[in-house]
Amino acid sequence: MASGILPNVKRVALLGATGSIGRQAIEVVAAHPALRLCALQSGSTELAALTAAHGVEHAQVGGDPAELLERSRPDIVLNAVVGFAGVGATLWALEAGVTLALANKESLVAAGELATAAHARGGGLLLPVDSEHSALHQCLEGRAPETVSGVVLTASGGPFRGRARAELADVTVEETLRHPTWSMGPKITVDSATLANKGLELIEAHWLFGLPYERIEVVVHPTSVVHALVRLRDGALLAHVGLPDMRVPISYALTYPERAATPVEPLDLEGLTLSFEAVDDDAFPLVALARAAGERGGTGPCAFNAANEVAVGAFLEGRLRFDEIAEVVAETLGAVDGAAARDLEDLVDADGEARRLATRRLQPA
Ligand SMILES: NC(=O)c1ccc[n+]([C@@H]2O[C@H](COP(=O)([O-])OP(=O)(O)OC[C@H]3O[C@@H](n4cnc5c(N)ncnc54)[C@H](OP(=O)(O)O)[C@@H]3O)[C@@H](O)[C@H]2O)c1
Repeated sequence: MASGILPNVKRVALLGATGSIGRQAIEVVAAHPALRLCALQSGSTELAALTAAHGVEHAQVGGDPAELLERSRPDIVLNAVVGFAGVGATLWALEAGVTLALANKESLVAAGELATAAHARGGGLLLPVDSEHSALHQCLEGRAPETVSGVVLTASGGPFRGRARAELADVTVEETLRHPTWSMGPKITVDSATLANKGLELIEAHWLFGLPYERIEVVVHPTSVVHALVRLRDGALLAHVGLPDMRVPISYALTYPERAATPVEPLDLEGLTLSFEAVDDDAFPLVALARAAGERGGTGPCAFNAANEVAVGAFLEGRLRFDEIAEVVAETLGAVDGAAARDLEDLVDADGEARRLATRRLQPA
């Protein structure tokens, strides 16, 4: 889409502007002369101070993102909304063929088939902002698909790595929000502690890179220095290595293919040791549950995401124990029909049904 008076300046619509990714994205845009914010959206936080500080013409608190995006004519949509609420913006950008910088993994998990079809019709760029998927995008770019035998997603393991299932019953919200390597919004921080985040990322990788689930591995890597790896058929293994700082993948997506400089410190290799371990599926069952939901297909992943959102919300409000989050997700997955969604309306129904089932599970019998 044309950028008006300054032809080389890209107009960025930032949805989820007041969040952890949103704030870092504003910093990245402000540092780059060829990027300009044209629209901001939040869920409920007022935006007046941000729009004034950055000279942004269009802003919206909540509401339909399509309206804001039609009005503001962006070249890039950065979707940094949290949760299923991001689906509308993802589908709008993919259908319109506008570059989508995607942090909101939940939309691709819930709407994978609809999003892939919209992307094929729209023909625009889809650039992941999730650090693992940004790393995979970089390692896979220009590579013939038959040379790739699989990909590996790394998980930090979160604050409770090494604990057995029985030791997770009494963990507090405060302990859960103390992530060892990343500083992020509360929902994704809980997801990182339960490893639901890696389950969501597994499904996200399936849709982004068109890989079957059996070719996507998950390993625990406590320091989060290796973001992801690609296995090639000749036995080589390519790793993407760097400090855990979201400004790198945000900048990569917003300045692609330029790879603009960032203020992030180079990684010091002296004394660096790398360690990897298997996921403990007994203590952290949500990776295996996501894999099963992904393999089942249809609206299984949508139900996984919806139940997880309900359970995480209840945990943050003190209404559910940490170890019960996976139970709510498993029971919801067992109760939904999982039939494929033909359109957004079907998907919203499937999301609503899973939320109702998960919420019912929260009520005392
Ligand atoms: N944080 C990270 O480092 C990181 C890394 C990788 C991927 N991600 C992904 O990026 C997304 C955002 O994560 P975050 O950590 O930045 O979350 P966050 O700090 O909680 O921010 C969420 C943002 O979404 C907005 N929002 C909530 N509900 C909305 C709605 N219904 N409509 C429009 N906007 C809404 C919030 O607005 P209000 O302020 O008004 O509530 C806020 O701006 C998530 O999908 C997450 O998985 C995050």
